[in-house]
Amino acid sequence: MKLSGNTILITGGASGIGLAFAERFLNNDNQVIIIGRRKEKLEEAKSKFPKLHIRVCDVSQEKDRISLVKWIKGKFPTLNVLVNNAGIQQRANIMNAADNWSDYQKEISINVDGPIHLSMLFAPLLANQDNSAIINVSSGLALTPGVWVPVYSATKAAIHSFSISLRLQLEKHNVEVIEIFPTAINTDLGGVGVHTFGAPLDDFADSVFEGLKKGDLEIGYRESKERLKASQKELKQGARKAWDNFSANSPDF
Ligand SMILES: NC(=O)c1ccc[n+]([C@@H]2O[C@H](COP(=O)([O-])OP(=O)(O)OC[C@H]3O[C@@H](n4cnc5c(N)ncnc54)[C@H](OP(=O)(O)O)[C@@H]3O)[C@@H](O)[C@H]2O)c1
Repeated sequence: MKLSGNTILITGGASGIGLAFAERFLNNDNQVIIIGRRKEKLEEAKSKFPKLHIRVCDVSQEKDRISLVKWIKGKFPTLNVLVNNAGIQQRANIMNAADNWSDYQKEISINVDGPIHLSMLFAPLLANQDNSAIINVSSGLALTPGVWVPVYSATKAAIHSFSISLRLQLEKHNVEVIEIFPTAINTDLGGVGVHTFGAPLDDFADSVFEGLKKGDLEIGYRESKERLKASQKELKQGARKAWDNFSANSPDF
């Protein structure tokens, strides 16, 4: 992907991975728009990086997605890159999760409906631009499920599958489709303090930008780089090993 001179929309760009990408895209002379649900987080990001454009938008809501596209077409008609990054993660013990179905439905709407519908809405616009791309942020858990976050893992596996179809369908329209597979990164995903064991955000974001520069279409990081090359047998063994480890350390789950 061309790294400068783009107009880029990043969902969930006010914090974590989205903001780290926004900062790097700004530093490479791109126009960057970020969206999210919390106005104060967007304003905080803009006060740190005044060149950012911000808009409140909940990607789980169809009406928000449609009005976002209208707004972009009016204000940023040269938009040529969509980064589907917004996501949430929740633990779920399936034996007692049914009472909280609305929480899991929300996770599916944010992590799956959002990126799939936004890709459909923006594809015709991107097909008319030069150097366009859709970047989907899935997860290493798309390849090996984290059994303690089963709904989340299923949403990311769905985005992995969708990214493959999207890449092949959009090939003839010259829209590049890139998928990024973060492993555990130190952000607020799942709640403040839950991911502090993860890798440093800047190291991850720098490594992703190296992959973008090289033109990679599937960009792993640390363990997920290995998982992208692993056999089905190795992936299943990896899921069991991580689950056994989690179970041993989480007797209250
Ligand atoms: N951190 C990790 O270990 C890790 C690993 C693998 C994959 N990922 C993926 O990386 C992506 C970014 O996560 P992160 O780690 O940077 O977590 P984060 O710091 O919690 O960022 C998530 C961002 O998404 C936004 N968001 C959530 N729901 C939204 C909605 N309905 N509409 C619009 N924006 C929404 C949040 O803002 P608001 O709450 O204000 O809406 C927030 O800015 C996610 O897709 C995540 O699944 C992260």
